[in-house]
Amino acid sequence: RGGADGGMRMILIGPPGAGKGTQAPKIKERYGCCHLATGDMLRAQVAAKTELGRQAKKIMDDGKLVSDDIMVNMIRDQLENNKECKNGFILDGFPRTVPQAEKLDGMLTDQRKPLKHAIELQIDDSLLVARITGRLVHPASGRSYHKIFNPPKANMTDDITGEPLIQRSDDNEATLTKRLGTYHDQTGPVTDYYRKTGIWKAVDASKEPGQVWKSVLGIMEPGGSASGTLMSKLG
Ligand code: AP5
Repeated sequence: RGGADGGMRMILIGPPGAGKGTQAPKIKERYGCCHLATGDMLRAQVAAKTELGRQAKKIMDDGKLVSDDIMVNMIRDQLENNKECKNGFILDGFPRTVPQAEKLDGMLTDQRKPLKHAIELQIDDSLLVARITGRLVHPASGRSYHKIFNPPKANMTDDITGEPLIQRSDDNEATLTKRLGTYHDQTGPVTDYYRKTGIWKAVDASKEPGQVWKSVLGIMEPGGSASGTLMSKLG
């Protein structure tokens, strides 16, 4: 799956809580590509107590963006050196600004492996507070749960490893408001950027996760049996 030309190459765009981290592992499983989540990479730096992690934590807790140079170099390094990415990639949380999108295009054009899909998870801001404030995360794997919508089998415990779940320090209502502001100001133009390229499609991310997955799959495999709430004509 994903084609003979180096596999799946796609990005997921959407506001905090839209479901990028919920859908991306399913795509990874289906296409055998790598899943690069820039937020998870930054949180790994925070956990490792590096200088970048110290600076990034302040920025993330303030709902702002880490610099384009740092993020572009992080992705470049992964695409060049992470063996899992030889079979394609799904980017979750990158690009988040137009300069990041332009740099990514430059990298992929150099390799003659352009993006195949830019999928936007569209959802009204008002639905995101409940999703974000109820989220529980397993830091080591990036797996996420929800206290009400997708609870773990045992309270505050990862289903697979049995390790404890945590709440992210930026997952509170005050920081979410700032993150949403940043998203609309700086990442909104990224969706316009991809609309012009012809690879942009949007799905209704307010539906339940299985329905959202059907919509995503319907874009990647248009001839397949998946049917969903494709909204590409609404953009
Ligand atoms: P990042 O970690 O990327 O956070 P984000 O974009 O705010 O996205 P989230 O992880 O909050 O949401 P998600 O869409 O993955 O939702 P999820 O699937 O978990 O970035 C964090 C910070 O790092 C940024 O603020 C920034 O500072 C920095 N950063 C990262 N990348 C950067 C970059 N490129 N440039 C500069 N700075 C960068 O779902 C949320 C919850 O809802 C879960 O509990 C889930 O179970 C539940 N849920 C999911 N789908 C559904 C559904 N369909 N119905 C009901 N519940 C659902």
